This record gives sequence, C-alpha cells and structure tokens, in this order.
Amino acid sequence: MDSNITVILQEVSFSYPDGTKAVDNISFSIKQGEKLAIIGPNGAGKSTLLTLLNGVYEAEGKISIFEFEVNRKNRRKIKSSIGLVFQNPDDQLFCPTIHDDVAFGPLNFGMDKEQIGHRVQAALKEVGLIGYGQRSSFHISYGERKLAGIATVLSYDPPLIALDEPTSNLDPLHRRKIINWIRHSERTFIIATHDLDMALETCGRVIILNNGRIVADGPAGVILRNRELLETNQLELPLMLQQSG
Ligand SMILES: Nc1ncnc2c1ncn2[C@@H]1O[C@H](COP(=O)(O)OP(=O)(O)OP(=O)(O)O)[C@@H](O)[C@H]1O
Ligand SMILES: [Mg+2]
Repeated sequence: MDSNITVILQEVSFSYPDGTKAVDNISFSIKQGEKLAIIGPNGAGKSTLLTLLNGVYEAEGKISIFEFEVNRKNRRKIKSSIGLVFQNPDDQLFCPTIHDDVAFGPLNFGMDKEQIGHRVQAALKEVGLIGYGQRSSFHISYGERKLAGIATVLSYDPPLIALDEPTSNLDPLHRRKIINWIRHSERTFIIATHDLDMALETCGRVIILNNGRIVADGPAGVILRNRELLETNQLELPLMLQQSG
C-alpha cells in the first residue's frame, strides 16, 4: 500500500439491525496529513461512517487504516491508530475526573504511570485545559467538555483523528480554539460537520454525503463555492462566502 495513504474504504456499506441502510457502497481514500470534511444533510450517514472507521460496527466491504484491515482481529491496532471524538462529549467522558478520562486511553494501551502523566498534561495543554485535571466533567461547561473529549484521544497520540461535529453548540471563542487547533495540527483529520465555514477554514478536501452515498468529492475551495451543488443537497454556501458574494 502507498505509504502516503492513511485510510482506504472499498465498497463499504452498512445497515443498522432495523434495516436502515446508513452507508451505501462508499469508496475513497485519505492521504497522510490530509484534512477531509464530510458534509451532508441530517441523516446522510456521516456519524455512521466515522464509527465504521474504528470498528464500532462491522461494515460490508473493506476498510483499512494504515496497513491494518478494520476487523475484530486488528481491533487493538485500529483503536490506537484512530482517535474518534463523538459529537456529544458525554459519550466520551465517564471517569470521576478529567485527568482519569484523559488517562484512560494510554492506560489501556499499557503505558507506565510516568508516561501517562506526561501524556495527560500534553493533551490538556494542546486543547487549552491546563489545570482542569482534577475537575469533574460534570462541573465544567459544555465547550470545556468538548475540548476534554478531544484530549481523551490526543493522550494516546493517534495519527488519525475523526471528529464528529467538533464545533456544534460552541461559543465563538471555543469554536475558534478548535479551528486553530485543527489548522495547526499535522495529523490526518476526517471531520463530519454542518459548520461549512469551519470546513472551509480547516479542510483541503470535502466529501458530500447524501442518503449514505458520496455525491461529490473534491477540493474544499471548489465544492464549498458551488451553490447549486450545495443547495441540491440541502446545504448552503458558507456564511463567509455569502457575505462576499
Ligand atoms: N442506531 C441506529 N439504528 C437505526 N438507524 C440509525 C441508527 N443511528 C442512525 N440511524 C439512521 O442511519 C442514518 C444515518 O444516520 P447518521 O447518524 O449517520 O447521519 P448523520 O449524517 O450523522 O446525521 P446528522 O447530521 O443528523 O448528525 C439515518 O437514516 C438514521 O436515522
Ligand atoms: Mg451525525
């Protein structure tokens, strides 16, 4: 496999147990260091697609992350290669303190206590939450919980980060912090989002998903300027382009 390729999906489909087909015959790959936004209307299959990447559900077709196929046998290797951050931080934080939540990944991957301490501090620093370690996730704000959710995956340093709606419900300052963090990171990102301005600022490439299928895949600067394509898919131009046009 080309060493520049991080993720490959080949003819991937997935239906929920009740028969809902959420992902329908999707193929694409992501290069190392690429930042890819997945956009599309509610129910398009964006979140489902992200969960398929780390093997939460088993998909039809083939998904590989680095050289490993996503399957039961490779579960551990896959888990350490991809950091999936859920839309709702309450799905990510479940320990008594933020420190314990952020330490959970490194602990699971068998790192020693000293190493874990360093990793936790570095992860909290990267998201701007220094000093939050001993606080409870129930007693910090929603935006802070979103940042803490990101720290829980940064602490085990995955080369690939999948973010589900990272800026939803954030105030402008927290949103800007997340945008700056993504822009300055050298990791590979796949980001499901309705925040098309954020996608334009952070991602070089955009895929439009609708009804579980890819309807467009190309440079962010082209797709996010295509009013007709966006409107056909229940989307609209990013606000920053509406004002200038
Ligand atoms: N647990 C589930 N069981 C059955 N169907 C589900 C389940 N979760 C999602 N779906 C369905 O799968 C489809 C894709 O949902 P998904 O959550 O992936 O969409 P999405 O693009 O992330 O939407 P949103 O923008 O609202 O977050 C939808 O039709 C949805 O109703
Ligand atoms: Mg979703």
